[in-house]
Amino acid sequence: MKKDYVIEASGLVKAYGSNQVLKGIDLRVERGTMLALLGPNGAGKTTTVRILSTLLKPDAGSVTIEGYDIATEADKVRTVIGLTGQSAAVDELLTGRENLIMMGRLYRLTKSSAVARAAELLAEFDLIEAADRPAKTYSGGMRRRLDLAVSLIATPPVIFLDEPTTGLDPRSRLSMWEIIKKLLAAGTTILLTTQYLEEADQLADQIVVIDGGKVIAHGTSAELKSKVGKDRLELVFKDGKTLQAAQQALGKAVVSTNSKDYSATLIITDTNTDVKRVLDTLVAAKLSVQSMAVHQPTLDDVFLSLTGKVNQAITEEES
Ligand SMILES: Nc1ncnc2c1ncn2[C@@H]1O[C@H](COP(=O)(O)OP(=O)(O)O)[C@@H](O)[C@H]1O
Ligand SMILES: [Mg+2]
Repeated sequence: MKKDYVIEASGLVKAYGSNQVLKGIDLRVERGTMLALLGPNGAGKTTTVRILSTLLKPDAGSVTIEGYDIATEADKVRTVIGLTGQSAAVDELLTGRENLIMMGRLYRLTKSSAVARAAELLAEFDLIEAADRPAKTYSGGMRRRLDLAVSLIATPPVIFLDEPTTGLDPRSRLSMWEIIKKLLAAGTTILLTTQYLEEADQLADQIVVIDGGKVIAHGTSAELKSKVGKDRLELVFKDGKTLQAAQQALGKAVVSTNSKDYSATLIITDTNTDVKRVLDTLVAAKLSVQSMAVHQPTLDDVFLSLTGKVNQAITEEES
């Protein structure tokens, strides 16, 4: 069956003065799926989203959204998209409910439908208690949920989420993930930008990694991980003597050993059979293992191996 792409962009180029920000971005998003545009600060994520959502004209390249061309049918494009991100249209002085009703009226809902839709979204986004307080009193997580709710007033089939969880505490991030998962389950097509590998890993069907305005990798999370290699099995022994004996027993399956913590690392292809074989070998040699763990490559490993850089967003967050 022919695939149904809701968003198709090819050869997007954009410069600000002499700063070549996008150097030929291609991406497409299938109906009802999420594509995560993953990249560090300054990679060109927001610029890409602004182009896709008709807020900015590219220097070159083409985009269609639901078949509408952003260059010639921008008005049509705007009727099918919802945009939320760094420049959302929430009025700080109005309450959450008032913001939603106002946006509903802007989208030409009748007064009573706007009121009803506002109530529905407030409930869905866990904002009922805060509904009648000015938006300026909202916490970061509540504010982000209101931003998203406002962009959903007209139930658009396509949504752009520009770093929806950046700067949120872990609990608010999880609740935003739940909301995003519900939107996906309801059939919405989503393009989300993020600096967080884990977020792309958790939510996205497809991941496009960009750096310096170029696509440096794309695929499913599993495909990207498989590019950086296989799972590793780490065994820790009680002393150097046991480690040495284990290394002899296991032979060339051992790729490295550490004489400080008495650990050995093995590359495995099939977790169940390989781990069993290793344990059988050790038992036969009367060697006991203190602890063992299987490590799968993370998207962090992918990012590191693709860019040669550690992802700043993760590093900063942990510090
Ligand atoms: N309006 C603008 N004028 C000049 N330079 C800009 C403008 N917007 C973004 N840039 C530059 O474009 C590059 C990419 O920015 P952006 O798309 O915001 O990246 P990201 O969203 O991935 O952090 C950065 O170097 C940024 O400084
Ligand atoms: Mg950005």
